[in-house]
Amino acid sequence: MKHAQLAALGLFDARVPRYTSYPPATAFSVETGVDFQESRIKGLDPSDPVSVYVHIPFCERLCWFCACRTQGTTTLSPVVHYLDVVKKELEQLRHLVPFGLHMGRLHWGGGTPTILPPDLIRDLAAYIMDVIPPADDFEFSVEIDPTMVDADKINALAEAGMTRASIGIQDFAPDVQDAIGRHQSFAQTKTYVDLLRAAGITSLNADLVYGLPHQTLAKMDASIDQVLSLDPDRIALFGYAHVPHMAKRQKLIKEETLPDDLARHELSELATARFVAAGMAEVGIDHFAKPRDSLAIAAHGGELRRNFQGYTVDSCQTLIGIGASSISRFADGYVQNAAATAAYIQRIETGQLSGARGVEMTRDDQMRARVIEMIMCDFALDLTKLRREFGDLVDTILLSTNGIKATGFQPVRFSVMYYNLPSHF
Ligand SMILES: C[S@@+](CC[C@H](N)C(=O)[O-])C[C@H]1O[C@@H](n2cnc3c(N)ncnc32)[C@H](O)[C@@H]1O
Ligand code: SF4
Repeated sequence: MKHAQLAALGLFDARVPRYTSYPPATAFSVETGVDFQESRIKGLDPSDPVSVYVHIPFCERLCWFCACRTQGTTTLSPVVHYLDVVKKELEQLRHLVPFGLHMGRLHWGGGTPTILPPDLIRDLAAYIMDVIPPADDFEFSVEIDPTMVDADKINALAEAGMTRASIGIQDFAPDVQDAIGRHQSFAQTKTYVDLLRAAGITSLNADLVYGLPHQTLAKMDASIDQVLSLDPDRIALFGYAHVPHMAKRQKLIKEETLPDDLARHELSELATARFVAAGMAEVGIDHFAKPRDSLAIAAHGGELRRNFQGYTVDSCQTLIGIGASSISRFADGYVQNAAATAAYIQRIETGQLSGARGVEMTRDDQMRARVIEMIMCDFALDLTKLRREFGDLVDTILLSTNGIKATGFQPVRFSVMYYNLPSHF
Protein backbone atom coordinates (compact mmCIF):
# COMPACT_ATOMS: atom_id res chain seq x y z
CA MET A 1 0.00 0.00 0.00
CA LYS A 2 1.26 3.49 -0.82
CA HIS A 3 2.13 5.98 1.89
CA ALA A 4 -0.74 8.29 0.88
CA GLN A 5 -3.26 5.47 1.22
CA LEU A 6 -1.86 4.53 4.61
CA ALA A 7 -1.98 8.16 5.71
CA ALA A 8 -5.60 8.41 4.54
CA LEU A 9 -6.41 5.35 6.65
CA GLY A 10 -5.02 7.21 9.65
CA LEU A 11 -2.16 4.78 10.24
CA PHE A 12 0.37 7.50 10.93
CA ASP A 13 -1.90 9.13 13.49
CA ALA A 14 -2.08 5.94 15.49
CA ARG A 15 0.13 5.70 18.55
CA VAL A 16 -0.93 2.31 19.74
CA PRO A 17 0.72 0.55 22.64
CA ARG A 18 2.90 -2.42 21.78
CA TYR A 19 1.06 -5.73 21.90
CA THR A 20 2.43 -8.22 24.38
CA SER A 21 -0.51 -10.32 25.42
CA TYR A 22 -4.26 -10.48 25.75
CA PRO A 23 -5.36 -9.51 28.34
CA PRO A 24 -2.61 -6.86 28.28
CA ALA A 25 -0.16 -6.22 31.13
CA THR A 26 -2.27 -3.21 32.17
CA ALA A 27 -4.96 -5.71 33.22
CA PHE A 28 -2.55 -7.56 35.54
CA SER A 29 -3.30 -7.13 39.25
CA VAL A 30 -1.91 -8.30 42.58
CA GLU A 31 -5.06 -10.45 43.00
CA THR A 32 -3.44 -13.00 40.70
CA GLY A 33 -0.01 -13.73 42.13
CA VAL A 34 1.95 -16.44 43.82
CA ASP A 35 -1.03 -18.65 44.79
CA PHE A 36 -2.21 -18.81 41.19
CA GLN A 37 1.36 -19.44 40.00
CA GLU A 38 1.86 -22.31 42.47
CA SER A 39 -1.46 -23.98 41.80
CA ARG A 40 -0.99 -23.86 38.01
CA ILE A 41 2.55 -25.26 38.22
CA LYS A 42 1.38 -28.09 40.51
CA GLY A 43 -1.48 -28.85 38.13
CA LEU A 44 0.66 -29.13 34.97
CA ASP A 45 0.14 -32.24 32.84
CA PRO A 46 3.51 -34.05 32.90
CA SER A 47 2.93 -35.41 29.39
CA ASP A 48 2.81 -31.86 27.99
CA PRO A 49 6.32 -30.29 27.75
CA VAL A 50 6.76 -26.70 28.93
CA SER A 51 8.87 -23.79 27.71
CA VAL A 52 11.16 -22.01 30.15
CA TYR A 53 12.36 -18.39 29.92
CA VAL A 54 15.19 -17.12 32.12
CA HIS A 55 15.77 -13.36 32.41
CA ILE A 56 19.28 -12.03 33.08
CA PRO A 57 18.74 -8.32 33.87
CA PHE A 58 22.35 -7.11 33.64
CA CYS A 59 24.48 -5.42 30.99
CA GLU A 60 28.01 -4.07 31.06
CA ARG A 61 27.03 -1.28 28.69
CA LEU A 62 23.65 0.45 28.66
CA CYS A 63 22.74 1.33 25.08
CA TRP A 64 20.73 4.54 24.93
CA PHE A 65 18.07 3.20 22.55
CA CYS A 66 17.31 0.11 24.60
CA ALA A 67 13.97 -0.37 26.33
CA CYS A 68 14.83 -3.73 27.91
CA ARG A 69 14.49 -4.34 31.63
CA THR A 70 18.13 -4.33 32.60
CA GLN A 71 20.65 -2.61 34.81
CA GLY A 72 24.30 -1.73 34.26
CA THR A 73 27.08 -3.37 36.20
CA THR A 74 30.85 -3.26 35.87
CA THR A 75 31.46 -6.11 38.31
CA LEU A 76 30.21 -9.68 38.39
CA SER A 77 29.20 -9.71 42.06
CA PRO A 78 25.53 -8.68 41.56
CA VAL A 79 25.27 -11.21 38.72
CA VAL A 80 26.67 -14.00 40.91
CA HIS A 81 24.25 -13.12 43.71
CA TYR A 82 21.34 -12.98 41.26
CA LEU A 83 22.18 -16.45 39.92
CA ASP A 84 22.16 -17.84 43.46
CA VAL A 85 18.65 -16.45 43.83
CA VAL A 86 17.58 -17.85 40.44
CA LYS A 87 18.76 -21.26 41.64
CA LYS A 88 16.61 -20.83 44.77
CA GLU A 89 13.63 -20.09 42.52
CA LEU A 90 14.43 -23.22 40.50
CA GLU A 91 14.66 -25.21 43.74
CA GLN A 92 11.14 -24.05 44.68
CA LEU A 93 9.99 -25.03 41.22
CA ARG A 94 11.49 -28.49 41.68
CA HIS A 95 9.14 -29.11 44.62
CA LEU A 96 6.08 -27.98 42.65
CA VAL A 97 6.39 -29.49 39.16
CA PRO A 98 4.78 -32.90 38.60
CA PHE A 99 7.09 -35.90 38.24
CA GLY A 100 7.95 -36.62 34.60
CA LEU A 101 7.53 -33.05 33.28
CA HIS A 102 9.91 -32.16 30.42
CA MET A 103 11.13 -28.92 28.89
CA GLY A 104 10.53 -28.45 25.16
CA ARG A 105 12.15 -25.00 24.86
CA LEU A 106 14.58 -22.93 26.91
CA HIS A 107 15.32 -19.28 26.18
CA TRP A 108 17.78 -17.01 27.99
CA GLY A 109 17.08 -13.32 27.45
CA GLY A 110 17.91 -10.02 29.01
CA GLY A 111 19.69 -7.83 29.47
CA THR A 112 22.73 -9.75 28.39
CA PRO A 113 22.85 -13.47 29.22
CA THR A 114 26.40 -13.56 27.82
CA ILE A 115 27.56 -11.41 30.72
CA LEU A 116 27.75 -14.79 32.55
CA PRO A 117 31.23 -16.31 32.62
CA PRO A 118 31.61 -19.87 31.25
CA ASP A 119 31.37 -21.62 34.63
CA LEU A 120 28.12 -19.82 35.49
CA ILE A 121 26.71 -20.62 32.02
CA ARG A 122 27.39 -24.33 32.60
CA ASP A 123 26.11 -24.20 36.18
CA LEU A 124 22.83 -22.45 35.31
CA ALA A 125 22.07 -24.68 32.30
CA ALA A 126 22.79 -27.86 34.30
CA TYR A 127 20.64 -26.64 37.20
CA ILE A 128 17.64 -25.89 34.98
CA MET A 129 17.93 -29.26 33.19
CA ASP A 130 18.14 -31.06 36.49
CA VAL A 131 14.87 -29.47 37.63
CA ILE A 132 13.02 -29.96 34.31
CA PRO A 133 14.85 -32.37 31.96
CA PRO A 134 14.85 -31.56 28.24
CA ALA A 135 12.32 -33.27 25.95
CA ASP A 136 13.50 -35.18 22.85
CA ASP A 137 13.09 -32.27 20.41
CA PHE A 138 14.51 -29.75 22.89
CA GLU A 139 15.59 -26.30 21.59
CA PHE A 140 17.71 -23.82 23.57
CA SER A 141 18.15 -20.24 22.39
CA VAL A 142 20.25 -17.45 23.89
CA GLU A 143 20.41 -13.68 23.22
CA ILE A 144 24.03 -12.84 22.49
CA ASP A 145 25.70 -9.42 22.56
CA PRO A 146 28.76 -9.72 20.27
CA THR A 147 30.65 -7.18 22.41
CA MET A 148 30.05 -9.20 25.57
CA VAL A 149 30.97 -12.70 24.50
CA ASP A 150 34.15 -14.71 23.85
CA ALA A 151 35.18 -18.13 22.56
CA ASP A 152 35.01 -19.76 26.00
CA LYS A 153 31.47 -18.50 26.62
CA ILE A 154 30.36 -19.69 23.18
CA ASN A 155 31.86 -23.12 23.79
CA ALA A 156 30.22 -23.29 27.22
CA LEU A 157 26.85 -22.42 25.67
CA ALA A 158 27.29 -24.99 22.90
CA GLU A 159 28.30 -27.67 25.41
CA ALA A 160 25.28 -26.76 27.53
CA GLY A 161 23.04 -27.55 24.56
CA MET A 162 22.36 -24.16 22.91
CA THR A 163 20.76 -24.74 19.50
CA ARG A 164 20.03 -21.14 18.42
CA ALA A 165 21.91 -17.89 18.97
CA SER A 166 20.14 -14.55 18.66
CA ILE A 167 22.66 -11.82 17.93
CA GLY A 168 22.01 -8.15 18.67
CA ILE A 169 23.13 -6.00 15.73
CA GLN A 170 20.61 -3.10 15.32
CA ASP A 171 22.63 -1.14 12.68
CA PHE A 172 26.29 -1.05 11.60
CA ALA A 173 26.41 2.64 10.51
CA PRO A 174 28.99 4.40 12.76
CA ASP A 175 26.99 7.62 13.22
CA VAL A 176 23.82 5.66 14.05
CA GLN A 177 25.84 3.67 16.60
CA ASP A 178 27.21 6.95 18.04
CA ALA A 179 23.67 8.27 18.41
CA ILE A 180 22.34 5.17 20.17
CA GLY A 181 25.35 4.74 22.46
CA ARG A 182 26.19 1.29 21.13
CA HIS A 183 29.45 0.60 19.34
CA GLN A 184 29.91 -2.70 17.63
CA SER A 185 32.00 -3.20 14.51
CA PHE A 186 31.15 -5.54 11.68
CA ALA A 187 34.51 -7.31 12.14
CA GLN A 188 33.80 -8.00 15.81
CA THR A 189 30.30 -9.28 15.03
CA LYS A 190 31.62 -11.53 12.24
CA THR A 191 34.29 -13.01 14.52
CA TYR A 192 31.63 -14.27 16.93
CA VAL A 193 29.23 -15.36 14.20
CA ASP A 194 32.07 -17.50 12.79
CA LEU A 195 32.87 -18.89 16.25
CA LEU A 196 29.19 -19.75 16.80
CA ARG A 197 29.06 -21.61 13.49
CA ALA A 198 32.35 -23.39 14.31
CA ALA A 199 30.87 -24.43 17.68
CA GLY A 200 28.09 -26.21 15.79
CA ILE A 201 25.29 -23.67 16.21
CA THR A 202 23.20 -24.18 13.09
CA SER A 203 20.54 -21.53 13.68
CA LEU A 204 21.46 -17.85 13.92
CA ASN A 205 19.03 -14.96 14.34
CA ALA A 206 20.03 -11.32 13.88
CA ASP A 207 18.13 -8.45 15.57
CA LEU A 208 17.93 -5.23 13.54
CA VAL A 209 16.11 -2.00 14.33
CA TYR A 210 14.73 0.59 11.91
CA GLY A 211 13.71 4.12 12.88
CA LEU A 212 16.96 4.81 14.76
CA PRO A 213 18.51 8.32 14.87
CA HIS A 214 20.33 9.39 11.67
CA GLN A 215 19.24 6.25 9.82
CA THR A 216 18.78 6.78 6.07
CA LEU A 217 17.87 4.46 3.24
CA ALA A 218 21.47 4.44 1.97
CA LYS A 219 22.90 3.59 5.41
CA MET A 220 20.25 0.94 5.98
CA ASP A 221 21.06 -0.55 2.58
CA ALA A 222 24.76 -0.74 3.47
CA SER A 223 24.03 -2.28 6.89
CA ILE A 224 21.81 -4.88 5.25
CA ASP A 225 24.65 -5.84 2.86
CA GLN A 226 26.80 -6.52 5.90
CA VAL A 227 24.04 -8.38 7.76
CA LEU A 228 23.30 -10.61 4.74
CA SER A 229 27.02 -11.40 4.38
CA LEU A 230 26.76 -13.01 7.85
CA ASP A 231 24.19 -15.41 6.36
CA PRO A 232 21.66 -15.35 9.25
CA ASP A 233 18.94 -18.00 9.23
CA ARG A 234 16.43 -15.61 10.77
CA ILE A 235 16.13 -11.84 11.06
CA ALA A 236 13.99 -9.86 13.49
CA LEU A 237 13.37 -6.33 12.24
CA PHE A 238 11.98 -4.20 15.06
CA GLY A 239 10.64 -0.66 14.74
CA TYR A 240 12.49 1.57 17.19
CA ALA A 241 10.20 2.27 20.14
CA HIS A 242 11.03 5.72 21.48
CA VAL A 243 9.49 5.71 24.95
CA PRO A 244 11.74 7.97 27.09
CA HIS A 245 9.04 8.24 29.78
CA MET A 246 9.53 4.49 30.36
CA ALA A 247 13.17 4.00 29.35
CA LYS A 248 14.89 7.04 30.85
CA ARG A 249 18.20 6.42 29.02
CA GLN A 250 16.43 7.20 25.73
CA LYS A 251 16.47 10.87 26.85
CA LEU A 252 20.06 10.81 25.54
CA ILE A 253 18.66 10.43 22.03
CA LYS A 254 17.80 13.71 20.32
CA GLU A 255 14.27 13.45 18.98
CA GLU A 256 15.02 15.70 16.02
CA THR A 257 17.48 13.08 14.74
CA LEU A 258 14.79 10.39 14.51
CA PRO A 259 13.36 9.53 11.08
CA ASP A 260 9.76 10.71 10.67
CA ASP A 261 6.82 8.39 10.01
CA LEU A 262 7.27 8.34 6.25
CA ALA A 263 10.99 7.65 6.61
CA ARG A 264 10.29 4.83 9.10
CA HIS A 265 7.84 3.31 6.68
CA GLU A 266 10.35 3.53 3.83
CA LEU A 267 13.13 2.04 5.96
CA SER A 268 11.00 -0.94 6.86
CA GLU A 269 9.87 -1.39 3.25
CA LEU A 270 13.46 -1.23 2.01
CA ALA A 271 14.63 -3.80 4.54
CA THR A 272 11.72 -6.09 3.70
CA ALA A 273 12.41 -5.85 -0.05
CA ARG A 274 16.10 -6.61 0.51
CA PHE A 275 15.46 -9.67 2.68
CA VAL A 276 12.84 -11.02 0.29
CA ALA A 277 15.18 -10.43 -2.69
CA ALA A 278 17.85 -12.35 -0.77
CA GLY A 279 15.49 -15.35 -0.71
CA MET A 280 14.15 -15.02 2.82
CA ALA A 281 10.49 -15.62 3.60
CA GLU A 282 8.44 -13.00 5.44
CA VAL A 283 7.28 -14.31 8.80
CA GLY A 284 4.50 -12.44 10.58
CA ILE A 285 4.82 -8.68 10.90
CA ASP A 286 8.53 -8.28 11.60
CA HIS A 287 10.52 -11.50 11.07
CA PHE A 288 12.24 -13.11 8.09
CA ALA A 289 13.64 -16.61 7.73
CA LYS A 290 15.36 -18.80 5.19
CA PRO A 291 12.70 -20.87 3.41
CA ARG A 292 13.95 -24.12 4.98
CA ASP A 293 14.10 -22.68 8.49
CA SER A 294 11.42 -24.13 10.79
CA LEU A 295 9.99 -20.63 11.32
CA ALA A 296 9.36 -20.11 7.59
CA ILE A 297 7.97 -23.63 7.23
CA ALA A 298 5.60 -23.02 10.15
CA ALA A 299 4.50 -19.66 8.71
CA HIS A 300 3.85 -21.25 5.33
CA GLY A 301 1.88 -24.10 6.87
CA GLY A 302 -0.26 -21.99 9.20
CA GLU A 303 1.53 -23.39 12.28
CA LEU A 304 3.36 -20.22 13.38
CA ARG A 305 2.90 -19.18 17.02
CA ARG A 306 3.70 -15.99 18.92
CA ASN A 307 4.69 -15.78 22.57
CA PHE A 308 6.46 -13.24 24.78
CA GLN A 309 9.73 -13.91 22.94
CA GLY A 310 8.17 -13.18 19.54
CA TYR A 311 7.45 -15.52 16.62
CA THR A 312 8.14 -19.15 17.33
CA VAL A 313 7.32 -22.69 16.31
CA ASP A 314 6.97 -23.49 20.00
CA SER A 315 3.50 -24.92 20.59
CA CYS A 316 4.00 -25.54 24.35
CA GLN A 317 0.93 -24.31 26.15
CA THR A 318 2.87 -23.35 29.27
CA LEU A 319 5.77 -20.95 29.58
CA ILE A 320 7.49 -20.80 32.95
CA GLY A 321 9.24 -17.45 33.48
CA ILE A 322 12.27 -17.48 35.79
CA GLY A 323 14.01 -14.37 37.14
CA ALA A 324 13.06 -10.75 37.75
CA SER A 325 10.14 -9.44 35.65
CA SER A 326 9.66 -12.73 33.77
CA ILE A 327 6.11 -13.58 32.80
CA SER A 328 4.72 -17.11 33.06
CA ARG A 329 1.87 -18.13 30.80
CA PHE A 330 -0.53 -20.90 31.78
CA ALA A 331 -3.54 -22.19 29.86
CA ASP A 332 -5.82 -19.87 31.84
CA GLY A 333 -3.69 -16.91 32.85
CA TYR A 334 -0.44 -14.99 33.22
CA VAL A 335 1.73 -14.19 36.24
CA GLN A 336 4.67 -11.79 36.23
CA ASN A 337 7.51 -12.11 38.73
CA ALA A 338 8.38 -8.95 40.71
CA ALA A 339 9.79 -6.57 38.10
CA ALA A 340 12.56 -4.85 40.06
CA THR A 341 15.54 -7.11 40.66
CA ALA A 342 15.73 -6.17 44.37
CA ALA A 343 12.02 -6.94 44.90
CA TYR A 344 12.39 -10.26 43.06
CA ILE A 345 15.37 -11.24 45.22
CA GLN A 346 13.55 -10.26 48.40
CA ARG A 347 10.53 -12.41 47.52
CA ILE A 348 12.55 -15.49 46.60
CA GLU A 349 14.66 -15.15 49.77
CA THR A 350 11.45 -15.53 51.83
CA GLY A 351 11.15 -19.05 50.43
CA GLN A 352 8.24 -18.58 48.02
CA LEU A 353 7.91 -18.00 44.29
CA SER A 354 8.02 -14.42 43.06
CA GLY A 355 4.69 -14.01 41.20
CA ALA A 356 3.65 -10.43 41.92
CA ARG A 357 0.78 -9.68 39.56
CA GLY A 358 -1.12 -11.35 36.82
CA VAL A 359 -4.51 -12.11 35.35
CA GLU A 360 -6.71 -15.17 35.28
CA MET A 361 -8.30 -15.73 31.87
CA THR A 362 -11.86 -16.70 31.15
CA ARG A 363 -12.51 -19.04 28.24
CA ASP A 364 -13.55 -15.96 26.25
CA ASP A 365 -10.20 -14.26 27.04
CA GLN A 366 -8.36 -17.38 25.89
CA MET A 367 -10.20 -17.38 22.60
CA ARG A 368 -9.57 -13.66 22.01
CA ALA A 369 -5.87 -14.19 22.71
CA ARG A 370 -5.82 -17.03 20.19
CA VAL A 371 -7.64 -14.91 17.59
CA ILE A 372 -5.09 -12.10 17.97
CA GLU A 373 -2.26 -14.61 17.75
CA MET A 374 -3.72 -16.08 14.53
CA ILE A 375 -4.06 -12.63 12.98
CA MET A 376 -0.48 -11.70 13.90
CA CYS A 377 0.86 -15.03 12.62
CA ASP A 378 -1.31 -15.88 9.60
CA PHE A 379 -3.11 -12.59 8.80
CA ALA A 380 -6.24 -14.73 8.73
CA LEU A 381 -8.56 -16.58 11.06
CA ASP A 382 -8.72 -20.33 10.65
CA LEU A 383 -12.26 -20.86 11.88
CA THR A 384 -12.04 -24.64 11.67
CA LYS A 385 -9.01 -24.67 13.94
CA LEU A 386 -10.59 -22.12 16.24
CA ARG A 387 -13.81 -24.11 16.48
CA ARG A 388 -11.80 -27.23 17.27
CA GLU A 389 -10.22 -25.39 20.19
CA PHE A 390 -13.19 -23.36 21.43
CA GLY A 391 -16.38 -24.96 20.11
CA ASP A 392 -19.48 -22.79 19.79
CA LEU A 393 -17.81 -19.88 21.61
CA VAL A 394 -16.39 -19.03 18.17
CA ASP A 395 -19.82 -17.77 17.10
CA THR A 396 -19.51 -14.80 19.47
CA ILE A 397 -16.37 -13.66 17.62
CA LEU A 398 -18.08 -14.02 14.25
CA LEU A 399 -20.86 -11.76 15.41
CA SER A 400 -18.52 -9.13 16.79
CA THR A 401 -15.99 -8.99 13.91
CA ASN A 402 -18.81 -7.66 11.77
CA GLY A 403 -17.62 -8.08 8.23
CA ILE A 404 -13.98 -9.18 8.57
CA LYS A 405 -13.66 -12.09 6.17
CA ALA A 406 -12.71 -15.37 7.75
CA THR A 407 -9.60 -15.73 5.65
CA GLY A 408 -7.38 -13.77 3.36
CA PHE A 409 -7.53 -10.18 4.61
CA GLN A 410 -4.22 -8.38 4.35
CA PRO A 411 -3.06 -6.30 7.26
CA VAL A 412 -1.00 -3.18 6.86
CA ARG A 413 2.56 -3.82 8.00
CA PHE A 414 2.94 -2.33 11.46
CA SER A 415 5.92 -0.34 10.27
CA VAL A 416 5.35 3.05 11.82
CA MET A 417 3.99 2.16 15.19
CA TYR A 418 6.30 3.53 17.79
CA TYR A 419 5.62 0.76 20.23
CA ASN A 420 6.62 -2.13 18.02
CA LEU A 421 8.99 -3.85 20.45
CA PRO A 422 9.88 -7.48 20.85
CA SER A 423 7.04 -8.94 22.84
CA HIS A 424 8.87 -9.92 25.98
CA PHE A 425 9.59 -6.35 27.16
C1 LIG B 1 17.56 -8.02 25.21
S1 LIG B 1 17.90 -7.05 23.85
C2 LIG B 1 19.49 -7.56 23.19
C3 LIG B 1 20.34 -8.60 23.66
C4 LIG B 1 21.78 -8.20 23.88
N1 LIG B 1 21.88 -7.56 25.16
C5 LIG B 1 22.39 -7.30 22.83
O1 LIG B 1 22.46 -6.12 23.06
O2 LIG B 1 22.80 -7.78 21.79
C6 LIG B 1 16.87 -7.75 22.59
C7 LIG B 1 16.56 -6.86 21.40
O3 LIG B 1 15.56 -5.92 21.68
C8 LIG B 1 15.57 -4.92 20.67
N2 LIG B 1 15.28 -3.61 21.28
C9 LIG B 1 15.78 -3.11 22.43
N3 LIG B 1 15.29 -1.87 22.66
C10 LIG B 1 14.47 -1.58 21.62
C11 LIG B 1 13.68 -0.45 21.29
N4 LIG B 1 13.65 0.64 22.06
N5 LIG B 1 12.94 -0.51 20.17
C12 LIG B 1 12.95 -1.62 19.38
N6 LIG B 1 13.69 -2.71 19.63
C13 LIG B 1 14.44 -2.70 20.75
C14 LIG B 1 16.97 -4.95 20.03
O4 LIG B 1 16.86 -5.37 18.69
C15 LIG B 1 17.68 -5.97 20.88
O5 LIG B 1 18.64 -6.71 20.15
S1 SF4 C 1 20.68 -3.59 23.75
FE1 SF4 C 1 21.48 -5.32 24.91
S2 SF4 C 1 23.44 -4.58 25.77
FE2 SF4 C 1 22.33 -2.78 25.10
S3 SF4 C 1 21.26 -2.12 26.99
FE3 SF4 C 1 19.84 -3.41 25.81
S4 SF4 C 1 20.05 -5.42 26.66
FE4 SF4 C 1 21.86 -4.22 27.33
